[in-house]
Amino acid sequence: MTPINLAIWGSGSGSNAQAIVDYFSGSEVVKVALVVSDVSDSFILERARKVGIPVKYLDDSERRNPECLIDLMNTYQVQMIALAGYMRMVSPGFLTKFIGPILNIHPSLLPAYGGKGMYGNRVHQAVIENKERETGVTIHLVNEKYDEGEILFQQKVLVSADWSAEELAKAVLKEEHFWYPRIIEKIAKKLPDSL
Ligand code: GRF
Repeated sequence: MTPINLAIWGSGSGSNAQAIVDYFSGSEVVKVALVVSDVSDSFILERARKVGIPVKYLDDSERRNPECLIDLMNTYQVQMIALAGYMRMVSPGFLTKFIGPILNIHPSLLPAYGGKGMYGNRVHQAVIENKERETGVTIHLVNEKYDEGEILFQQKVLVSADWSAEELAKAVLKEEHFWYPRIIEKIAKKLPDSL
């Protein structure tokens, strides 16, 4: 089996990207072919460089240009994309042109605590403030609206009453790192080789 070429897009620390890279090291199902970031000095690019994965920083004009993004994906024969902490909207023009699945991971049980402005520690802070007893992780397809694409997978995380937002973030991230590669693998196995 020829592995499916995956591109990971991110803006920040890239801990999910790292988990994905580690999980698929030597895999026959998925190859991480490219790591993309809109932040030139983001740690996600550093992590990829360290393990010899091609990286591409996108400046504003490239990021907004669907043709340019499609050319980039074609150059690396990318068949599937995983957003992992990518802080920008993916341009609708690109969404209609890219044929393969585009996944995102969100640190709550969507639709709860999703939408514009709900990212990073803000999500966990709100969960703690509202004294929620459970939250979790959602992996979904990306569409033209923030956090509203079809939900592929959710995992609950129980919230201890004495947790800070930071402690909660840690517990949620642990689940993200476990599940994201596994769901990517599941989707990749269903893709035709020709995509
Ligand atoms: C994760 O919590 C993910 O759910 C959200 O952004 C964060 C990315 O963290 N979309 P990292 O860059 O993978 O460490």
